[in-house]
Amino acid sequence: MHKIQKAVIPAAGLGTRFLPATKATPKEMLPVVDKPAIQYVVEEAAAAGLNDVLMITGRNKRALEDHFDRNYELESALTRKGDDERLVRVQESSELATMHYVRQGDPKGLGHAVLCAEPHVGDEPFAVLLGDDLIDPRDPLLARMTEIQEREGGSVVALMEVAPEQIHLYGCAAVEVTPEADVVRVTGLVEKPEAGDAPSNLAVIGRYVLDPAVFGVLRDTEPGRGGEIQLTDALQQLAADEKLGGPVHGVVFRGRRYDTGDRGDYLRAIVRLACEREDLGPDFRTWLRDFAATEL
Ligand code: G1P
Repeated sequence: MHKIQKAVIPAAGLGTRFLPATKATPKEMLPVVDKPAIQYVVEEAAAAGLNDVLMITGRNKRALEDHFDRNYELESALTRKGDDERLVRVQESSELATMHYVRQGDPKGLGHAVLCAEPHVGDEPFAVLLGDDLIDPRDPLLARMTEIQEREGGSVVALMEVAPEQIHLYGCAAVEVTPEADVVRVTGLVEKPEAGDAPSNLAVIGRYVLDPAVFGVLRDTEPGRGGEIQLTDALQQLAADEKLGGPVHGVVFRGRRYDTGDRGDYLRAIVRLACEREDLGPDFRTWLRDFAATEL
């Protein structure tokens, strides 16, 4: 069984929900407190031992490459000033992982973005992390998923219980229980079903550990919901026929997840993360309590 080393992070989306902020800046670079959203995701991959990161990018995404590279000018300016604390913070992002980039060209959907990773990933299991979902580092999810994949083979998706009125925003899994409380067997997947058609209340959150057989399946996957090649549709194929690439399991996540996908979620994520920060949290929480008591 392969030890999983590679993480793929699709980051080619246009970020239209955040215009005009994203006119010239990738949405992945929008700050969540004081770090770009994408840095949390690369930190999560690195914390799970995935030190080889491939980003699937597109036009207007050069800032991503710069962020994970050295910036000698800035570093020497901070060194001259003796500002060691900021120097460390600037260097951190360039030391997290070995970064690779490939451009998606035509934005034909998440499944197509993952297919762009094939030449880099080759014939080994790999992780996919979607940038709109941030997982609290105190509640490690990816390490548990790689553990299950290494034990069971096949593919593993991250699942989370959501309210029925939320399920149309996610891929949804039909599952069977296993002896482990946080692990289920996935028997089917459907992308963004209406509440009435959803096979469960378990939503796919943006973490996957995939068998490389997914590439062959994706190549034959027709555009699905929204006219896009959907990763969920390829995973449905894998779940329906174990001979293709082994079983599909789900790890049911019950920890802290922050969504940054639209403006409301993004604001909530910033407030929650700011409250939890050791340095900013105490003052911010006091202000927030006063604000809520007097202004709301
Ligand atoms: C994508 C996937 C969906 C998944 C979601 C998780 O949708 O297609 O199956 O549940 O990410 O965030 P998107 O949010 O990109 O529309």
